[in-house]
Order: sequence, then C-alpha cells, then structure tokens
Amino acid sequence: MKNLIVVLVGGLSGEREISFLTGKACSLALKKKGYSVISIDAKGNFGEKLKKLKPKAIFNALHGKYGEDGFVQSLLEGFKIPYTHSGVFASSLAMDKAMSRLIFRKNDLKTPKYFLLHKNHEGNLVKKIKKKKIKFPVVIKPVNEGSSLGVHICKNKIKLKNKYKKLLKDYGRILVEEYIPGREIQVAVMGDKALGAIELVPKRQFYDYKAKYSSKACTKHIMPAPISSNKYREVLNLAKKAHSVLGCRGITRSDFRFFRNQFYLLELNTQPGMTQLSLVPEIAGYCGIKFEDMVAWMIEDASYNR
Ligand SMILES: Nc1ncnc2c1ncn2[C@@H]1O[C@H](COP(=O)(O)OP(=O)(O)OP(=O)(O)O)[C@@H](O)[C@H]1O
Ligand SMILES: [Mg+2]
Repeated sequence: MKNLIVVLVGGLSGEREISFLTGKACSLALKKKGYSVISIDAKGNFGEKLKKLKPKAIFNALHGKYGEDGFVQSLLEGFKIPYTHSGVFASSLAMDKAMSRLIFRKNDLKTPKYFLLHKNHEGNLVKKIKKKKIKFPVVIKPVNEGSSLGVHICKNKIKLKNKYKKLLKDYGRILVEEYIPGREIQVAVMGDKALGAIELVPKRQFYDYKAKYSSKACTKHIMPAPISSNKYREVLNLAKKAHSVLGCRGITRSDFRFFRNQFYLLELNTQPGMTQLSLVPEIAGYCGIKFEDMVAWMIEDASYNR
C-alpha cells in the first residue's frame, strides 16, 4: 500500500496505556491528512509484521522503556524503515536521566543537585545526602521511567527510608536529588525551533501521574507561561540547547522547575505525549500549528540513520 504509515502503540513499558492514547490521536490525525494507517502493538513478534507491511514510515507512539530508549529505534534502523522522533543514541541518552544530566551539565544547563544510587551502593544514604549538601525534602526517582511513575518527594529521613529500597529493587538505579520549589515550566521543540513554554499548576502535591492524565485532578495549564519576556526567551533557548546537545530529532519536550529566577532542567522527553490534550500539541496550537499538521510534519521528518 502506497502512503502506508504504521503507528507503533502500546509496548511493554509502564506507560503502555498512555501510548494507546497518543497512538489513537496521531492515527486519526494521519488519516485526516490522507495517509493509510495501521496500528501495531509493539510487543511479541511485531518486527515480522513490520517487515511484511513495508510501510512508508513508522510513527513511533511508544513511551518509556523499549519504545523511547533506543531499543525500538535500533530495530527500525535494522529494517531501514524511516521512523519519527530521535535516533538510537539520542533516545537512549535522554531516557537515562543519569546519562543525559552529565551532558546537560557539561553544556552549562543547570539541573537540580543530584547523585546516582545503584543497587550495590555502600554506606549510609542519609550521610551521603548530607555530604552532597542536599537538604530535605529530597526527590528520588528511577533513571529511566516516565509519567512521574516512581517519583517520590520525601519530606524526611523516615519517608526516604520507606521508599528508596523498593525503588532500587525495582529499577536498579535511581536518582537522589534536591527538591526545587517554585514553578513547573515545560517547553516544546520542533526541529530547530523552540515553539513555546507552558506553565502547569497542579492542585496535587506535585505534577504526578494523576495530575498529568486525570481531568479530575484539575491541573491548570497556562499558555504562554506568565513569566517575563526575557525569561521566556531564555527557557526556550535552554530547551533548544538541551535538544541539540543530546542530538535529538523531530519533537521533544523539556521539563523545567523555575525557582528564584533560575531554570533547572529536570529532563528532556524524546517521545512526549501526543494526545489532543497533551502539552506539546497545546503549545503548538498556541503557535497556530494544528494537531494534524504537526503529526504530518513528524511523518515527513521521519528517517533512519539519524
Ligand atoms: N527535583 C525536583 N524538584 C521538584 N519537583 C520535582 C523534581 N523532580 C521531579 N519533580 C516533580 O515530578 C515531576 C516528574 O518528574 P520527571 O519529569 O523527572 O519524571 P518523568 O517520570 O520522567 O516525567 P515525564 O512524564 O515528563 O516523562 C516533575 O514534573 C515535577 O513536578
Ligand atoms: Mg517530566
């Protein structure tokens, strides 16, 4: 079939359900633009199906482990089928917060103070936190998860002790980092251009899974983020730089905390949520870019060997 696009959905990560939402919205958009679309759940022997279908391109609607971390990307490189978003290396760097932060810091992108804790670590964790001059509350999180899964804000030693062992057991490596109070600002980058910055104001303790995906959580979205025009320009440039130093392609979203006039980069997402209600489409919409045009742009931008 000419003009056939395969949308990869689902997969094996904790963000499987979100991926179905991204996939559904993007499939619909592609159909509106005249493409033939088939969705495939990226589990089991999906590679065989892909090879048989020989699509014009793959729209990668996966999030998290295997879909966003270079794994699926290297499979597609092997098949020589053009795919959306970043390539193998940028995807795996961005997915691993410990690795991407090393690069961010080398390039003067400020991040919260943090250290990596692995499952064979030795010594007392609280002492280590003190030594690193990190004060409570501290945030612990997996290095390679998304949708705030496994992110815990620990107000004190007791909370920390209750949480970190299970997290380490589940993930093997976690980040321990300073809590940055202040505001939540996220920036969408499309190709060479930072599109805009949005502020999220959760009603919950922080921007957790429910605050992200449940309308009942009533998280407020403020677009454009109400900060001075200088600071707005600054955060757009920071996101563009983060995208560029990791070698990203297509669309990315960078997540910041804004405190005492400074931006702290938390992470960069190479496969941001793309439902009609997600942040990247909301930012793009404000810039006059329709959802289906953005999705079609992503398909035209698809390639391999990226
Ligand atoms: N150091 C921190 N200080 C304050 N809040 C934080 C910190 N780290 C994480 N958070 C809160 O937790 C949320 C999720 O953190 P982060 O972006 O690191 O996780 P994620 O699971 O990769 O998210 P995503 O859904 O964007 O992939 C942040 O948006 C923020 O609200
Ligand atoms: Mg995030």
